This record gives sequence, C-alpha cells and structure tokens, in this order.
Amino acid sequence: MPGGATANRPMRALQVSLGDRSYPIVVGAGALERRDLLEPIVAGRSVAIVSNTTVAPLYAGRLRAMLGGAAQVVDVVLPDGEAHKHWQTLNGIFDALLAARFDRNSVLVALGGGVVGDMAGFAAAVYQRGVDFVQVPTTLLAQVDSSVGGKTGINHPLGKNMIGAFHQPRLVLADVACLQSLPQRELIAGLAEVIKHGAIADRAYFDAVADDLPALLAKDTAALERAVARSCEIKADVVAHDEREAGLRAILNFGHTFGHAIEAGMGYGEWLHGEAVGAGMVMATDLSQRLGLLDAADGARIRALVSAAGLPVAAPRWSAERYVELMSVDKKAERGTPKFVLLEALGRACVRRAPDDALRATLAAAATG
Ligand code: NAD
Ligand code: GLY
Repeated sequence: MPGGATANRPMRALQVSLGDRSYPIVVGAGALERRDLLEPIVAGRSVAIVSNTTVAPLYAGRLRAMLGGAAQVVDVVLPDGEAHKHWQTLNGIFDALLAARFDRNSVLVALGGGVVGDMAGFAAAVYQRGVDFVQVPTTLLAQVDSSVGGKTGINHPLGKNMIGAFHQPRLVLADVACLQSLPQRELIAGLAEVIKHGAIADRAYFDAVADDLPALLAKDTAALERAVARSCEIKADVVAHDEREAGLRAILNFGHTFGHAIEAGMGYGEWLHGEAVGAGMVMATDLSQRLGLLDAADGARIRALVSAAGLPVAAPRWSAERYVELMSVDKKAERGTPKFVLLEALGRACVRRAPDDALRATLAAAATG
C-alpha cells in the first residue's frame, strides 16, 4: 500500500480537452493524496466516496483524509464484482445519497475499478439530473481506460453496458501505487486495454509495451506510470475528437464486440472484462487478416503479445449462431448486424461489417483455439 511520502513524487499531468468540460488526469504514485486538486472540487459540498467491499478498506480512509474541506463525507460501499453492476446496486447508491440529503451541489468520488467507476459515474449522471464526480481508479484497467472519457453505465441481462450515459468526471487521479495490492489476474486483465491502445493507435507504443512486459507484470512503478500515461493520452485524444462515439471513438472497442459476447454468454464475472477483450482482440485480428487488411506478421505479433501477457487467446467453444446472437445486441450493431473494429495495420484501426463467411471462419478458428 502506498505511503504518504509518495505524494511528493513527480507526477504526469494530462488533459482531456472538451471545452468547458475539460479535466485533468494525474498519473503517478501518490496521486490519491492530491488534496490540492481535490479541495477546489469538494470544498463546502457533500461528498460520497463510492467504493466497494474490497477497495474501501484499503484506500477509503486515505482518500477521506484528503477531503477535509467537504461539508460532509459519506461512504457508499457496494458489493464487489461485475455480477453486481446492475439496477439494484445502482439504486443502493441513490438510497444512500437521498438518506444523507445530498443535493444538486453534491460530489461523488468513485474509488475502485471500472465496475465502481461506471456505476458511480452513472449515478452522478442521473442523480438529481446530474452532479459532479471524480474518478480515483484503482485497477490497471480503470487507470488506462474506464476512468477516462465519461462512459458510465450498468449491464442488462441481455447486454453488457446497455444502460448508461455520457458524463465526464471533473478530475481523474490514477495512483499507480494502488496497483501493488491488485491481484495479478486483474493486472493482466488491464494489460488487455494497454495492448489495445497500441494496436489501434500507436505501433511504437505497442513495441514499448512488448519491451516493458516483464516490468509491467512485476508491477514496476516506472513501467506502470509510462503505460497509464500513454494509454490515457491516446484515449484522451480520441475522446477529445469524438466524445459521443459518432465515429472515431468506436476504435476503442477493438476486441470488444467479440469480448462482450463472451462476457454476456459466460455470465458476467466468469471471464474478467480484460480477459474477454484479450480473446476478442485475437478474434478481431484473425478477422482483419481474413479480410486482407492486416498482414500475417503483424497478426502474429498481436497474438504473441496477448499470449505473453497471460491473457486468453482461445474463445469459448460455442456455435457461430450463438456468437452471432450474442453480438447482435452490441452497441455498434445496426438492426442486429454487428460491425467490427478491425486493424488495417498494427497501430491503425477501422470499423467494418464483415462478410458472413469470413466471420464464421473466424468464429470457428477461435473456438478451436
Ligand atoms: P473491477 O472494477 O471489477 O475490479 C476488479 C477487482 O479488483 C474487483 O474485485 C475490485 O474490487 C478489485 N480491486 C480494485 N482495485 C483494487 C486494488 N487496488 N487492490 C486490490 N483489489 C482491487 O474490474 P475492472 O477490470 O477494473 O473494470 C471492468 C469494468 O470496466 C467492466 O464493467 C467494463 O465494462 C468497464 N469498462 C468501462 C469502460 C468505460 O469507458 N467506461 C472501459 C473499459 C471497461
Ligand atoms: N472503452 C471504450 C470507450 O471508452 O469508448
């Protein structure tokens, strides 16, 4: 667990540029203790630290100590896990806010992984028609991806993240020292999104991640800071150009059409989101090659890095019909026909429909692993 001294380490500051809704992302060991950045947001206001049963005991006390200027601080502790990312849990947040008489000037602080961040963000988006919120992501996945960009929401039994809203945070504090307590399986799941960012947008970053992989797996602070900062930079740039996913932002879903199908089909929480994205990226890479977009050497490098990271490269053995059915509720689908984020080259993505024969060949190949 990080100590107070880490707050003096140099940190990387980035910006998500969205006009008057722009906000900083601070990356570094000790970012959780940036009272100077939290104070102007929380001063004199009611603040809820929304966390879960695993993360709250580890970090809520230290975060609370940074919120001395708030009028009141309430802890909202959610059950842990993707399986709880639904209406009933969300309603528990509203119950706590209403019981504590939170008004429209209140602030939510999401302390946890992507599940907490997505739910607290959605609660902030709709509570009394919208209140401010801050993201304090504590998993690698949340630090490199879900805490940035303002996508918030919950799952529906028929589809992943199907109910939600765009609502940007006021601040993101990504403290890589928190990752020291993260289980290795969760760290590896986060690497899926790191690999994704290199694959879709920056070949040099993909190479750097491959070089840094042993250090990342060993939770080396400098390597983690490099990855979190570069991934946030890539995501911030995409979001600044296309906040509402009218076009470009869809590339951030590389591997997700297949991945969401795996998550929904297995039952939420069986495969970690990042694991499903890992196998999904291998499937999207295969499809890119079948369509003649990506050459075999680049395809092999993606599969090799996903595998070296310890992510699954083989998908569940389901029929093509089952996959197609599961993918028909994907948010990129139009009238039930899915679109896929594919690669034209390592570092360059595009969005396409896939001919049925190529898609079925990919599904058959993936299921035999
Ligand atoms: P998660 O939130 O379930 O966290 C993983 C596990 O790690 C949980 O058990 C959590 O309690 C625990 N944990 C968190 N921080 C810890 C720490 N520092 N030490 C010890 N344990 C810790 O999973 P996740 O991978 O962070 O997020 C996945 C979710 O993010 C999915 O629901 C996915 O849909 C969502 N997501 C959203 C976006 C977006 O743009 N909003 C992007 C990608 C993923
Ligand atoms: N994770 C996809 C997005 O933020 O758009």
